[in-house]
Amino acid sequence: KMDSFIKNLMAKMTIDEKIGQLNLVTGGEATTGSAVSTDVESKIAKGNVGGIFSLTTPQKIRKAQEIAMKSRLKIPLIFGQDVIHGYKTTFPIPLALAASWDMPLIQKTARVAATEASADGLNWTFSPMVDIARDARWGRIAEGSGEDTFLGSEIAKVMVKGYQGDDLTKVNTIMACVKHFALYGAAEGGRDYNTTDMSLDRMYNDYLPPYKAALDAGAGSIMVSFNDINGVPATANKWLLTDLLRKQWDFKGFVVSDYTGVSELIEHGLGDLKTVSALSLKAGNDMDMVSEGFLTTLKKSLQDGKVTQAEIDRACRLILEAKYKLGLFDDPFKYCNDERAKNEILTPANIQFARETATKTFVLLKNQNQVLPLKKSGTIALVGPLANSKANMPGTWSVNADMEIVPSLLEGIKNVAGNNVKILHSLGANLTADATLQAHSTMFGREIPRDNRSEEELIKEAVENAKKADVVVAALGESSEMSGESSSRTDLGIPAVQQRLLQALVKTGKPVVLVLFAGRPMTLVWENENVPAILNVWFGGIQAGNGIADVLFGHVNPSGKLPVTFPQNVGQLPLYYAHKNTGRPLEDGKWFQKFRSNYLDVSNDPLYPFGFGLSYTTFTYGDLKLNSNTLKPGQKITASITVSNTGKYAGEEVVQLYIRDMVGSSTRPVKLLKGFQKISLQPGESKTVSFNIDEEILKFYNSELKFVAEAGDFKAFVGPNVRDVKTADFKLVK
Ligand code: IFM
Repeated sequence: KMDSFIKNLMAKMTIDEKIGQLNLVTGGEATTGSAVSTDVESKIAKGNVGGIFSLTTPQKIRKAQEIAMKSRLKIPLIFGQDVIHGYKTTFPIPLALAASWDMPLIQKTARVAATEASADGLNWTFSPMVDIARDARWGRIAEGSGEDTFLGSEIAKVMVKGYQGDDLTKVNTIMACVKHFALYGAAEGGRDYNTTDMSLDRMYNDYLPPYKAALDAGAGSIMVSFNDINGVPATANKWLLTDLLRKQWDFKGFVVSDYTGVSELIEHGLGDLKTVSALSLKAGNDMDMVSEGFLTTLKKSLQDGKVTQAEIDRACRLILEAKYKLGLFDDPFKYCNDERAKNEILTPANIQFARETATKTFVLLKNQNQVLPLKKSGTIALVGPLANSKANMPGTWSVNADMEIVPSLLEGIKNVAGNNVKILHSLGANLTADATLQAHSTMFGREIPRDNRSEEELIKEAVENAKKADVVVAALGESSEMSGESSSRTDLGIPAVQQRLLQALVKTGKPVVLVLFAGRPMTLVWENENVPAILNVWFGGIQAGNGIADVLFGHVNPSGKLPVTFPQNVGQLPLYYAHKNTGRPLEDGKWFQKFRSNYLDVSNDPLYPFGFGLSYTTFTYGDLKLNSNTLKPGQKITASITVSNTGKYAGEEVVQLYIRDMVGSSTRPVKLLKGFQKISLQPGESKTVSFNIDEEILKFYNSELKFVAEAGDFKAFVGPNVRDVKTADFKLVK
């Protein structure tokens, strides 16, 4: 039915109307790129617009759709936005959500986001971002699921399911757009938008699977990345957008460029606007976001024989199909329901869910002498530029967060601590010593408090409070816009002015809890050595203030595990657990050996390994048992381990399975995550966790890009993180 409907419609369309469908303009509510669209209403009226993003509310969307309904063929517009980690009910940033390792939870955040966004007029989200990121200098590491291919792929699937549900025509579902295709997270030096250059081994085994997983889960669209791949920018890369995406992967949805991605091909050095627009369409890009290169040049390119009618038709058909799948031809106003907007956004249940979600994402990095959880009595000195800052809570890409209802950490602590706790609050330090850097580190008008007194005066005040207190809670780290798009950094420490504050607080001898705000792995060697307790809270969404307090006071036991490796210093980057062994590996336990692969000045170890995270309770792992040491094709073996809660609190633990292929036709990583299970244990309780291992999970792309499992020796590892594992050996026999 869809095919004949679209065929009939396209038969009536002029070339201008077809090209109009390929034009995506911004509604301008939030500036998320370096240009804005103009004359939007008159272009819609002429049939020159296929979709709008960054326009919300049923009223505004109805108004735009009404104009489209007056155009000659009354083709509805599609309405998109960056609904990245929740809509108005903003959840923790994606990197934080990944730290929950909780797939039902993550799926539900996407479901809630879709319900709220669709109630506010939207039907398309530029999410999930599934770019693998292994260089913490890259600010957009905050927006993805971290460094791991398996975890990233699992998250990609549940996010798509959460957004799209099982039926895109339902009014509370929205179309997903997987991004950024491809390899965007591998920008050289971690500098945003930079060149990417990668072997096919790494590309196929490590970087491509999450995009494929999201598409296999049914994602209706995919966004092209800004970077070049093998010397050809993704936006004009025929190998990427046609050979791989369409021919190898059989993707049937539509492709959209990133913001001005088409016109940026000029800066990449591929030619003028007409040339690059033709190149992009021919490569397989269907929709042009904001550049208006398609709109203004494709007709001429068709006349000049630079593009074909079939290429324009292909792109137009795919966009019309997306609109059809969303049910927009049946009812263009189906998402414009004022009642839904009133009743389904920021509901008490959603806000409560945001609070619970936040608590599941925090990672306890250190807790010497059980400083945490805090008692609900005595005096707390709450210090730091992020202690009373609402601006820092929702995190990057949270354009819709309702700042009015966001509690700061100070408010959250007051809400949770009760009347027996006295709180002495002081700023202690500015976010950064330099006001300009601080200004660059905020967005959407969300300012972090700044005090013009001298650094010494601010520290003095905080230290005086600390001396009067039983415990110090220092809320320090990054502002939410120190990570995210266009926020790459070369120094990954807590800004120096805040470090000096922390050192002065530690010097008082009072127990200090560092509540660390971060959108990326940070370098924390001094902090790890000197601060008794460190709780990494990322950016936890609109309820982070309450959620952090819930964890600080022990209402919730932290259970987050790092989805990225934390380095000792920036010089170690890129640092990731699934590295190759090399021909000259360092022997276990050694720091340096001459003529081995290592550094003179720092060990190869991370500060905190992938998968790491503590709890207020303790978990003990028994031995890893395999029911057989021989695996045959078509069969499976089971790896089991008993985990016991040996501490005083009920808690959740993420039990992780890694595998190493000991001998192969290609070099293989020293460990690869292949499974995980999140379990709950009461004090004294034990559970046996089992993982199935079959031939399928041992497969990889070999040097001929064939997906194979090779017979031979393997090692299985199970543990609470990638480092502290129990081991068993098995063989794949073919
Ligand atoms: O979706 C985003 C993308 O991730 C980065 N450039 C802007 C797009 C639209 O806002």
